Amino acid sequence: MSDKSYYVTTPIYYVNDKPHIGHAYTTILADVLANYHRLLGVPTWFLTGTDEHGQKVQQAAEKNGLTPQQQCDQTVVRFQELWKRLEITNDDFIRTTEDRHKVIVQEVLQDLFARDEIYRADYQGWYCVGCERFFAEKDLVDGNCPECGRKVDAIQETNYFFRMSKYQDWLIDYIETHPEFIQPDFRANETLGFLKTKKLQDLCISRPKSRLAWGIELPFDKDFVTYVWFDALLNYITAIGYKRDDKKFNQWWPATHQLIGKDILTTHTVYWPTMLKAMNVPLPKTVFAHGWWLTGRTKMSKSLGNVVNPMEMVDRYGVDAFRYFLIAEMTLGQDASFTEEAFIRRYNSDLANDLGNLLSRTVNMLGRYCDGKFPKIGNSALDGAPEKELWDTVQQAVVEMESSIDTMRLNAGLTAVLTAVRKVNQYFEIKQPWTQSKEGKTEEVGITLALAAESLRVCAALLYPVMPEKMSVLRAAFGLGKPDPKLLRTFGVIKAGTAIKETTPLFPRVEFKNEEEKPVNTEPVKVEGVITYDEVMNVKLRTAKVLAAEKVEGADKLLKLQIEVGEEKRQLVAGIALHYTPEQVVGRTIVIVANLKPAKIRGVESQGMLLCASIGDQMKLITVDGELPATGAVVK
Ligand code: ME8
Ligand code: MG
Repeated sequence: MSDKSYYVTTPIYYVNDKPHIGHAYTTILADVLANYHRLLGVPTWFLTGTDEHGQKVQQAAEKNGLTPQQQCDQTVVRFQELWKRLEITNDDFIRTTEDRHKVIVQEVLQDLFARDEIYRADYQGWYCVGCERFFAEKDLVDGNCPECGRKVDAIQETNYFFRMSKYQDWLIDYIETHPEFIQPDFRANETLGFLKTKKLQDLCISRPKSRLAWGIELPFDKDFVTYVWFDALLNYITAIGYKRDDKKFNQWWPATHQLIGKDILTTHTVYWPTMLKAMNVPLPKTVFAHGWWLTGRTKMSKSLGNVVNPMEMVDRYGVDAFRYFLIAEMTLGQDASFTEEAFIRRYNSDLANDLGNLLSRTVNMLGRYCDGKFPKIGNSALDGAPEKELWDTVQQAVVEMESSIDTMRLNAGLTAVLTAVRKVNQYFEIKQPWTQSKEGKTEEVGITLALAAESLRVCAALLYPVMPEKMSVLRAAFGLGKPDPKLLRTFGVIKAGTAIKETTPLFPRVEFKNEEEKPVNTEPVKVEGVITYDEVMNVKLRTAKVLAAEKVEGADKLLKLQIEVGEEKRQLVAGIALHYTPEQVVGRTIVIVANLKPAKIRGVESQGMLLCASIGDQMKLITVDGELPATGAVVK
C-alpha cells in the first residue's frame, strides 16, 4: 500500500442483459479497495463500464426488437442505477461505444497493422457464438465448444490476425518472473499450464461485417469490424487518456489491480498482456481473478432461474449489509455460495447482534450513566489488564485489516474487526458498568464506556470502506466525521463532553413470525397469471409533470402531452381526450410507465404510457397524493 497511486478496474460488463450479483460483487470489491486506498490518502482511480459491441449485444438487440445502440442505451442505465444504489464511487464509467474509446482503438489497430503485428489471412475454424471465440478443430470437445459445451459453427473466411503466437515464450517468462502479475498463484499456474502445453495461435481480431456489423470498423479495411475482446480490453487504457492525455495516463498506468472473475482469465492473462507488449505499453501490476458466486452449490444461470438479483437483496436488507455479506463471505479466489438463509444468518449474528447491539448498549449506557456526555478520562485509562487486552485486540484488527488489503484477504480483515467487536461485548460482561454505576464508581464507569466507544470508533473506521453509510451513522453517534487513518492507533480521540447522539438500531434483527415467512432456496416455479417480484420491477413506473397538452388532430380520444420526467422531457400520447381537456391535465403530476418501447400513435411519437383507472365509461388519471421535490420519482 506504499504505492504512489492506486488504479483499480472491473471488467466492463456486457449490456446484453441486466446486472446480477456477480457483476455487483466485482464492482463492490473494487469499490471497497478504492475506498480503503482513498482513506489512507493514496491517490486513487476506479474505473468500471460496459462492453457494448459484439455478437451477444447484437443478438440481444434483435431479440428485443431494438437497434444495437438502443439495446446498449437501455441496458447501460440498469448498471449505472445499480452502481448508484450500491454506493459505488467509481471515478469514471467507460462505454465502448463512446468516441473517446473507438478512436483510440482504431489508432492502436492502425499502428499494429503498420508494424505488421496484425496481418490478413484466410481462416478456417469453429466459432462459438456464446463465448465469441474461435477454436481449432483439435480443441473441440465432442465437436462442441471446449469452454461452454455449446454447439459451434463452422466458419471459413478472410480475417485479420494479431501475431500473438510470437509472444508465447516471452509471456511464459514474464509470468514466471513476475509472481504478482496473476493472482491468486493457482490462477497463474493455470495460465502457465496452458501456455506450456499448447502452442499459442495468432488471435483473429476482425469480423466481416457481412456476419457481424456491430463493432468498431477496422481503420484499414471497412468491410470488417474489430473482434469484441480486442476492442473491450483496451478500455482500461483508453479511459485514462492513452494516446491523448499523457499526464493522466502516466499517473494511473500501469493499473494496480485489475479485478476479474475466473471466467475471463485467458483473455486477461494471455490476450491482454501480449497486446500491451506489442503496443510497447507496460503490463498491469496485478490481474486478480476471483471465484464464482453460486446459488447454494449450483452455478447461477438464467435458465435455472436461480440468479440473485442484487436490487432485491438491497431493497430487503439495505445496501451496507449486502456489501458486507459479499465481502465477508467470499474468500478471494475461491467460489462462494449465496443463499438468503446464509445472508440472514450472518446479518443477524455479525451485524444485528454483535455490532449493532454493541452500539445501542454503549450509547444507552453513556446516556444513563454519564448524562449523555462522553466522560473525561485520565491517562491511566489503559492501565488495567482487561482494558489493555481489549485495546490490543482492537489494534490487532487494525494490523489485520491493513495487511488483508495488500494480500487480498478482505474477509480475514473483517473477521478480525468482528473479533474486536465481540471483545468489547465480553469486556462489558467483565466490567459490568451497570454494577459499577450502582456502586457509585463513577470514574470506572467512565473508563469502561470510553473504552467501548473508542473501540467502536476504530472498528467503524475499519469497516467504513465496506459500509460507508452505516459506519457514518455509527461515528456520528460519538460526534465523529469521516475516519482519519492517522488516528487508528491513537487512544482518546473522542472529546470529553461530546454529546452522544441517540441512534435507531443500525441493523434491526431480521425476524420471521413463522416458518412460512422464511426464505427458502427453491427454484422459482412459474404460476400462470402470477408474476414474480422481478417481473414487477421490470416495469419502471415514474412520476411525471404535464407541461403542455393538445388534441391530436383527427383523433377524438387522443391528447398529446409534453411531460417532464426528472431531468428529461418527453412526449406522450394518451387516450384520455374524452375525459379530460388539455387545460385540465396541464400542471398535474401523473404516473407513467417509463420504459415502454416508444411507438408512433396516429403518426405521433409516444415515449411511455400514462396510468389511468377506469370502470364502465368513467376514467380517472392516476396522480400523486401531494408534492414531491422533483418529478421522475420511482413508483412502487
Ligand atoms: O465477460 N460470480 O462481461 P460479463 C462472480 N464483457 N462473478 C461473476 C459472476 C458470478 N456468478 N458472474 C459474473 C464479460 N461475474 C466481458 C468482460 S473486460 C475487458 C470484458 C462477474 O458481463 C465477474 O467479474 O460476462 C466476471 O468476470 C464478469 O462479471 C463477467 O461479466
Ligand atoms: Mg460472461
